[in-house]
Amino acid sequence: MKKDFIDYIKKEFWFDDEEVLKFEKSLNTPLKKSIRINTNKISIEDFKKRAKNNNWILTSTNLWKNIFYIDREDAKEVALWNTPEHIAGYFYVQEVAASSSPFYMSGDKIDYNEYIILDMSASPGGKTTQLQEYYPNSLIVANELDKSRLKWFFSNLDRMSSLKTVATNYDGRFFKNIPEIFDKILLDAPCSWEWTAFKTDEALKYWNLKNIKNVAKLQYKLLEAAITTCKAGWEIVYSTCTLNKFENEGVIEKIFKKYGDYIEIIPLSQPFPPREKGVNVSSFKRNWPHLNFTGWFFVAKIRKVKSLIPLSISPQGREEKSSRWNKKEEIKFVRQNIEKLNSTDRKKISDFFKNTFDFDIWEYGLYEYNWDIQLIKKSLNDIWDKLFLYKIWINIGQLKDWEFIPNFYAGTFTKFDKNTIEVNKDDLDRLLSWYEIETKLFDWYYQIIYDDLEMGIAKLKNWKLKSLIPSKLIRN
Ligand SMILES: C[S@@+](CC[C@H](N)C(=O)[O-])C[C@H]1O[C@@H](n2cnc3c(N)ncnc32)[C@H](O)[C@@H]1O
Repeated sequence: MKKDFIDYIKKEFWFDDEEVLKFEKSLNTPLKKSIRINTNKISIEDFKKRAKNNNWILTSTNLWKNIFYIDREDAKEVALWNTPEHIAGYFYVQEVAASSSPFYMSGDKIDYNEYIILDMSASPGGKTTQLQEYYPNSLIVANELDKSRLKWFFSNLDRMSSLKTVATNYDGRFFKNIPEIFDKILLDAPCSWEWTAFKTDEALKYWNLKNIKNVAKLQYKLLEAAITTCKAGWEIVYSTCTLNKFENEGVIEKIFKKYGDYIEIIPLSQPFPPREKGVNVSSFKRNWPHLNFTGWFFVAKIRKVKSLIPLSISPQGREEKSSRWNKKEEIKFVRQNIEKLNSTDRKKISDFFKNTFDFDIWEYGLYEYNWDIQLIKKSLNDIWDKLFLYKIWINIGQLKDWEFIPNFYAGTFTKFDKNTIEVNKDDLDRLLSWYEIETKLFDWYYQIIYDDLEMGIAKLKNWKLKSLIPSKLIRN
């Protein structure tokens, strides 16, 4: 119930009547639209130039470097999703506060080290793709439990060319069985959806503390799994898009009670005025809609200071995991459905890219599942035996009847030197609406370039060129 929610906020956060009114009003104020530039594809400066040419006004959020508020004259004519820059994966539409957990993980700095990072509850992929920007050389394991949420998740990661990401489909609590393999973990936890109050009045209709306490129990278990699967000396960022204390401080306090000897809380800086009385405000970050003019969001950062696996000395004098660790539960070996491509098929695909686009694909890993060819720019050796992989990025086509048939995304992750066709805006619009355009080239596959953007693969047959763009990339 909305009234219960407001009363709770008033009491817990010591709001006076004036502040309550401001807070309530903020719930009916639409959030400003913001975008995050995909720095793996374009520099911020170059994107700003493109934006200027498009008459888009980008305004700094004064918070993170690659996130800007956006105003567009053509907003009514073309949805932001359907602009060429969006289709080509040059930006992601993301709310400012919702982007803050990867920010607190990285300190808004691009870190070129090679980590193994877990995004424990990842769909629809906003923060996964953001992590790939902050950590361009790291392997990201993006986990999502809910199969119905995988479609947009996969589409977003394909579009953003997240070339060093794999997906898993576990209940996040399962990671408790895989001790100490990740350097960094983001747990952007499933929560009670309080924040959707910005979108609909219905959101708070069923708000009650009983539901919230149940969600908090799951969040605790997920955080416990994150602490177990994190390597000693490394970090976990916990975030929710809720304001209540049960799902936030409550979860952290409970974890601290059990794992206090193994973890420490890393204090987060406070770019906004602290609001909470009675708690150590510098420990956590809470975004308030009526003060920060963003969505609401809570972030905590934890460092695991000590291994949870006790060591013992074997009779041979070696250090070994102690039997006190619950080895029965530990995952020893995983058999994958996805297979590494054999050398014959690998040659076939690399010949295709060489002959068609003059592009050398040898430095990429190539995998196959159900004829789908998946390409990744990262070794999977460190996780291959431990995690059952659901998808590897990116899917570039199919091997069928001994022939490689590329899809749209085979022409989005880089610009080729050969067999590219530059199109104007009218032709691009036709191609993106699945109309054909005439051209007198040979029948084959071509990469479409519009205004220097890679717009995927199109197939030419009988002088008619048709884009292979999947329908899910264009939204009504
Ligand atoms: C807040 S959303 C994640 C948003 C995402 N991090 C982003 O930035 O785009 C939480 C996600 O957790 C998933 N989820 C729910 N229960 C889970 C569980 N037990 N283990 C892993 N994921 C879970 C939900 O399906 C949902 O997609």
